[in-house]
Amino acid sequence: MKDAQPRTVYLKDYRVPDYLVDSTRLRFELQPRSTLVRSELHIRRNPAAGTDLPPLVLDGVELELLSVSIDGELVPASRYQELPEGLSIPVDKPEFVLEIHNRINPEENTSLEGLYLSNGMYCTQCEAEGFRKITFYPDRPDVMSTFTTTIVAPKQYPVLLSNGNEIERGTTEDGRQFVTWEDPFAKPSYLFALVAGDLQHVEDTFTTASGRAVKLQIFTEAKNIGKCDHAMRSLKKSMRWDEEVYGREYDLDIFMVVAVDHFNMGAMENKGLNIFNSACVLASPKTATDASYQRIEAIVAHEYFHNWSGNRVTCRDWFQLSLKEGFTVFRDAEFSADMNSRAVKRIEDVSMLRTTQFAEDAGPMSHPVRPDSYMEISNFYTLTVYEKGAEVVRMIHTLLGADGFRKGSDLYFERHDGQAVTCEDFVKAMEDANGVDFSQFRRWYSQAGTPVLDVSDEFDAASGTYSLTIRQSCPATPGQQEKLPFHIPFALGLLGRDGEALPLDTAGNTEQVLEITESEQTFRFHGFAQKPLPSLLRGFSAPVKVRYEYSSEDLLFLMRCDSDEFNRWDAGQRLAFMALEKLQEDFRQQRPLELPPALVNAYRSVLQNRELDPALVAEILALPSAQTLAEHAETIDAEAIIAAREFARRELALALKDDLLACYQRFHDDREYSPSAADIAARSLKNTCLSYLCVTEETEQLALAEAQFAAAGNMTDSAVALAALVNHAPEQVAQSALESFYQRWQQDTQVVELWLGLQSSSAQRGTLENVRGLMQHPAFELKNPNKVRAVIGGFANRNFNQFHRADGSGFDFLAEQVIALDKLNPQIAARLVTPITRWKKYTADLGDKMRAALQSVMDSGKLSRDLYEVVSKSLA
Ligand code: TRP
Ligand code: ZN
Repeated sequence: MKDAQPRTVYLKDYRVPDYLVDSTRLRFELQPRSTLVRSELHIRRNPAAGTDLPPLVLDGVELELLSVSIDGELVPASRYQELPEGLSIPVDKPEFVLEIHNRINPEENTSLEGLYLSNGMYCTQCEAEGFRKITFYPDRPDVMSTFTTTIVAPKQYPVLLSNGNEIERGTTEDGRQFVTWEDPFAKPSYLFALVAGDLQHVEDTFTTASGRAVKLQIFTEAKNIGKCDHAMRSLKKSMRWDEEVYGREYDLDIFMVVAVDHFNMGAMENKGLNIFNSACVLASPKTATDASYQRIEAIVAHEYFHNWSGNRVTCRDWFQLSLKEGFTVFRDAEFSADMNSRAVKRIEDVSMLRTTQFAEDAGPMSHPVRPDSYMEISNFYTLTVYEKGAEVVRMIHTLLGADGFRKGSDLYFERHDGQAVTCEDFVKAMEDANGVDFSQFRRWYSQAGTPVLDVSDEFDAASGTYSLTIRQSCPATPGQQEKLPFHIPFALGLLGRDGEALPLDTAGNTEQVLEITESEQTFRFHGFAQKPLPSLLRGFSAPVKVRYEYSSEDLLFLMRCDSDEFNRWDAGQRLAFMALEKLQEDFRQQRPLELPPALVNAYRSVLQNRELDPALVAEILALPSAQTLAEHAETIDAEAIIAAREFARRELALALKDDLLACYQRFHDDREYSPSAADIAARSLKNTCLSYLCVTEETEQLALAEAQFAAAGNMTDSAVALAALVNHAPEQVAQSALESFYQRWQQDTQVVELWLGLQSSSAQRGTLENVRGLMQHPAFELKNPNKVRAVIGGFANRNFNQFHRADGSGFDFLAEQVIALDKLNPQIAARLVTPITRWKKYTADLGDKMRAALQSVMDSGKLSRDLYEVVSKSLA
């Protein structure tokens, strides 16, 4: 395990590398407990760093060093120095060939970085700093090298893959086979990949815009070969889209994807050889939900898009992570919006951002999109770097328009192809291509925290002038007390009495993007007979919180009339928020709870509206989640949140029963499964209705769920019905449904993960005892992050009610699991601990218990650097 020394890395300390690696030749002799690695590095003094010859310092972790040679001559051990995390070698010439032999142990590698085994298959994960667990190397992204890789393995591993093109294969004297791969594109070590196993594959071809044929292959264990079609279709769509929207073609003759069961994240964009978490690539109509179909499409696209935004142009250092991740998330979000419903995609992304990223921004790990420092970079693969980073790119897109943005991205790719660059370089290309000044806009990269906009308005009837005053502020975050004003694109529309879109200028435009740059600014609009109603921050044009005193009537009006679909949904959310906040307060004051009839009526008319996209209706009907309410609260009163939300859900279900039922029946059919946007929308609305109906716990409604569960021809219908039964049906019914589901699907890893997650997140029966029971189930495996996320993560992140039990046992349980996991997989341990790091925001009764649980982690012994960083910063 890595040391927990509080070593901190600072952006301000960045220096160019002392030595460059022009080419890298690797040879692996694979054996589970003793893999031999030979590396031959063609090294050259970096002219940009100087002309003296400092020692060559290489990164290396958990490696057994066997030998070091320079230009064919063995360097005696007395000449070099082994460091705690590396190797220092004296240098006496500006250019030389370094050869290193070392040994590693893939079988014992449970951290899932470096080279490891997953179900008997060898695979690698090198981002961010995993290559140093394979061999000694300058493991930093600004060292870019070509790679030639030979893999030698026994016959049980017929498939041997690495980056680039296969150039040779054969059999060694002792009967093992080998394959050599060559990647002509210089890349940083974090994009290196190797796979070896007994794998099957599906194959297709894609012809690029310029007429080159690219071979596409998806590799998986034989049992999953029937689950690759959707990913293949998604890949081809992504390749076409990147040509059409960004003018970017694929560059190698082959593109490979491999599905792996043990994986810390979603997927990895290794050059020409993407490695995917099985859950993010495998799907079949009978076994995958709509959500996973859409997730797969998005992640396949995301990794593919990295070939340009990440690989051809990469990051200079890890502080620039959002350069590739923020941009690529923006690209995949736009792709998904083009393939499906744009409004619904935006709503999903914004709800996630508001709930989880806003919470991160307000918590102890809050950091800017481009952090200034870190202890462990793995902890910075965050919602802020990814999702807020994507919002920052989206704002540039909004400010420049689609054409201006395209000019900027063309210049960026042209100017920096083959380079390792910074967020600054990205912004500069956007500026230069458009002749604009983004000096102030750059603060989005350096200042943490979620800005708040306080909006007020005034109407002067005499002159017909409407003025909108916007004040911006941003809360203090760790290490940043004061913030300077942000440059904020603020999309605005104004509605008249009849819901008509009013012209905002003499040209008759009915929507305008205001550019907010000061702490307080007033915008004036003329020529109105009556006070208009503002539709603010349309499409969520900036990652900020908007405060404006809307009345319930205003919100009902916007829900009905706003031409911006996102804001129609948002108006519904605000209305629900107001009701839920009042319910929380009434609960605390022990007053009787009552749901405002206006909310019920608004939901009813949405349910009855046949013009709206059913997926949008489903989004509007979904009450803000408990997590969202928690993020919004000044102090989190978990008991009040749970009481308010459960009351509201039940009241809505009872009051709207007939409409819910009618809507359910309207969309319930047994057509053949298709993951088309229209079919997904229909299922989404139908299942939203079913879930509400079951909240009543009435026999007739539960019978609907039982019937749907028994007859379901696809996993979406099946899983929703099962979840409804688990949450609301009598114990016996729920148990037998769970049992029959498991009997049917126990051979299918992805479905079993779903089955586990559904139980651990069940508000009724997903009690702690149940979760502990699941951890003893044969399907559970502590070394598999998907299983951990399903059971422990499901409980801590998606079971607000049970996790926040008043006795604090949920927090103690999490602390206990985090301690155990840290010994196996520090990255997963450090992520999993998040829910108890937010203790300061809770009412004292729960907050103190959370803090105590966190302290018990700190006191449990030596922590990994990953976990140490998160825990120490959260206790501070
Ligand atoms: N670059 C990957 C992505 O976002 C992220 C990733 C995959 C990763 N696996 C990882 C990051 C392991 C850190 C550790 O597409
Ligand atoms: Zn990515």
